[in-house]
Amino acid sequence: MKAVVYRDNGGPEVLQLVDRELPVPGHGEVRVRVAVSGINPTDWQARAGQGMAFAEITPHLDGAGVIDAVGAGVDVSRVGQRVWLFMAAAGRPTGTAAEFTVVPSDQAVPLPDDAGFDVGAALGVPALTAHRALTVAEDGPRRLRPGALADKVVLAAGGAGAVGHAVIQLARWAGATVISTVSSPEKARLATAAGAHHVVDYRRGDPAAEILALAAEGVDIVAEVALGANLALDLSVLRPRGTLSTYANNGDQPVELNVLQHMVRNTRMQFIVLYTAGPEVRAAAVADVAAAVRDGALPVGQEHGLPLVRFPLHRTADAHRAIEAGQVGKVLVDVRS
Ligand SMILES: NC(=O)c1ccc[n+]([C@@H]2O[C@H](COP(=O)([O-])OP(=O)(O)OC[C@H]3O[C@@H](n4cnc5c(N)ncnc54)[C@H](OP(=O)(O)O)[C@@H]3O)[C@@H](O)[C@H]2O)c1
Repeated sequence: MKAVVYRDNGGPEVLQLVDRELPVPGHGEVRVRVAVSGINPTDWQARAGQGMAFAEITPHLDGAGVIDAVGAGVDVSRVGQRVWLFMAAAGRPTGTAAEFTVVPSDQAVPLPDDAGFDVGAALGVPALTAHRALTVAEDGPRRLRPGALADKVVLAAGGAGAVGHAVIQLARWAGATVISTVSSPEKARLATAAGAHHVVDYRRGDPAAEILALAAEGVDIVAEVALGANLALDLSVLRPRGTLSTYANNGDQPVELNVLQHMVRNTRMQFIVLYTAGPEVRAAAVADVAAAVRDGALPVGQEHGLPLVRFPLHRTADAHRAIEAGQVGKVLVDVRS
């Protein structure tokens, strides 16, 4: 099979297209013929320099395809099932930038017939992170379903980003009023297309006043991508006992915490990363995201606020260059030609 691999950390040029033996699924695993591989910033960050846990690594956590073989202990009726994959390359050398990959069977989630492989490949990291951001508030909910966030106001920072997009879609599906911040009119169009009720350009005027004019009692949950840059804004719009869910500090601005004001508000400050969230949290997120997919609530593409930017497998290095340069939308690698 064709696979993209790297044997050392470095720039995109360390990625090579090679021929490898078909992987064999072990106990509790499935082998998936990959159709589309989804890229996230964490994939290029892992390639660029976090050490090599294996002599050779095929990158990419997310993807979608069809199960073509199962290991011992897995129901053989899963062969032929369309699936989306998450965390394929987490703690394993076999990511989705290859014609076939092997994952534990619970990391291959059934994909409904009416959901394309592009949708499947875009779910993993963004949707599961968004789910976590929306389910850590003191008063719940812990699970998402239609109506679970009714009467809540969610602020999706950077709603034109991949995670921001998923926050908007999942929050909308769960019944929240959704406000999103963006940096430009074009990104405002994307956040609106994703389903945001209100969009605020954080580079113009007084974004805090604009948000409070939309949500007089304040915001219940902020899903934050740039904590240092936005902490003052978040503090001024969060309602008492509100939740600040942080999944990144884009821009690397230092975080200066006004402890007294957060105490006065009883702010809940939650930091988020999928790897250490624990199996129960992850299983709940997968189940709820799968339900949202079945409801058709997580579409992708320009018209749904997430433009798709595609590369063939042999140009995976260019796909990494694009996402590293801050490409707007979802970067996908077409594995099945
Ligand atoms: N903790 C986790 O488990 C986890 C999971 C997924 C991703 N991440 C991290 O989250 C970040 C975003 O990932 P992604 O895939 O969504 O990337 P992306 O598609 O490139 O989106 C990044 C977004 O950040 C926004 N942004 C940057 N500075 C901002 C600011 N000051 N205020 C509001 N928005 C701001 C940008 O929008 P504007 O141009 O509108 O500012 C952009 O849309 C990355 O750093 C990634 O590594 C963490």
